[in-house]
Amino acid sequence: MSHDSHVETRAVSHGEEPAPETGRGDVVSPIHLASTFALPALDTGLSLEDVDPARGEFLYSRLSNPTRHAVEQRLAALEGGTHGFAFSSGTAAINTALLATVEPGDHVVAFDDLYAGTRRMLEELFVKRLNVEVSFVDATDTGNVEAAIREDTRLVWMETPTNPLMKLCDIGAIASVAHEHGALLGVDNTFMSPLCQRPLALGADLVAHSTTKYLNGHSDSVGGALVTDCDELAESLGFLQQVALGNMLAPFDSYLLLRGTKTLPVRMRQHEANARRIAEYLEDHEQVSRVLYPGLESHPQYDLAREQQTGFGGVLSFELDGDIDDVVAFLGNLEQFTLAVSLGGVESLIECPAAMTHEPIPREEREAVGITDTLIRVSVGIEHVEDLLADLDRGFAAVDATHQSPSP
Ligand SMILES: Cc1ncc(COP(=O)(O)O)c(C=O)c1O
Repeated sequence: MSHDSHVETRAVSHGEEPAPETGRGDVVSPIHLASTFALPALDTGLSLEDVDPARGEFLYSRLSNPTRHAVEQRLAALEGGTHGFAFSSGTAAINTALLATVEPGDHVVAFDDLYAGTRRMLEELFVKRLNVEVSFVDATDTGNVEAAIREDTRLVWMETPTNPLMKLCDIGAIASVAHEHGALLGVDNTFMSPLCQRPLALGADLVAHSTTKYLNGHSDSVGGALVTDCDELAESLGFLQQVALGNMLAPFDSYLLLRGTKTLPVRMRQHEANARRIAEYLEDHEQVSRVLYPGLESHPQYDLAREQQTGFGGVLSFELDGDIDDVVAFLGNLEQFTLAVSLGGVESLIECPAAMTHEPIPREEREAVGITDTLIRVSVGIEHVEDLLADLDRGFAAVDATHQSPSP
């Protein structure tokens, strides 16, 4: 299939070849569970490089597996890259990206508002154990990234929008700055999915995903992905994934991801339509002090969002005008939104970052960046939006009820 086809078409079928053993071929890829594959004969000249999954050749499933190969092809096609890799988690993908690009003594510039797990990975593993230096900067201003870049900077690592503050950074401008200084740019595109943002087309060298989120989309599989169009980088990533770390995605999860990506375009459209309605509803609500959603004109980087994104996604945050007891009452009375970490599934999830995902960060640090006790993050699902709005009404009514003076 051509890379020129539309994203909706690539999402449905790219990477899945009909299997000849079932007459005219399976319409969907079977799940290949085999850990090893029979060779036709002993070929004394056989080397790993001779085995080509693109020709339907497989040797051992850690190296390559037909189901994983199919999904890796599709992930690459969706992000507009030439090499795709599927991992056992988003964390494994990011860890592999870092190991492929930096060595002890190197310097990394990273957004100071990264996913907490990535920040901990950088601090606890790369800084403390692997002697890599990391400068965390407010990348909403590209000038801060440029000021932090040094001669030994090998990698710039970004997320946009960030979690849960929905801050953006300018991928194209940061790519130019990184490249001028001989550094690579990696972007974690989990929040947007390739439907809403294509970092490679904007100049990034590497894109990472927690496929656990939108790409799989059904909250039933943990996985990760990397996509690049750089052959040299792909070689390092392949070595780490298949030889040194063995942190690849298993066949069953590869199948789930392959299946999930088919509906990504339709899901994303519904996530976004619902998120927009909810963001507007919250913006008008007297019990809400601020709403953070890049699709609202009130977002401080709305213009950048319109420029570099092709959609606004389904995650938003808002601040309840009250205290932590109000948050407890609000969350405790919702019936449709599930109180849970994670995001990007078809069902609506809600969480309080200060008490859940970002609880390990000291309070002063949290509050200094704007993660207050009453900040609530929502991953808007694809349910009927009127049911979601009715549920939020229920939550706000419960907060009101706690403020009524007890009857005499
Ligand atoms: C933006 C982002 N990147 C990476 C990860 C890590 O992914 P995983 O949980 O699949 O390891 C997450 C998980 O929440 C995330 O939100």
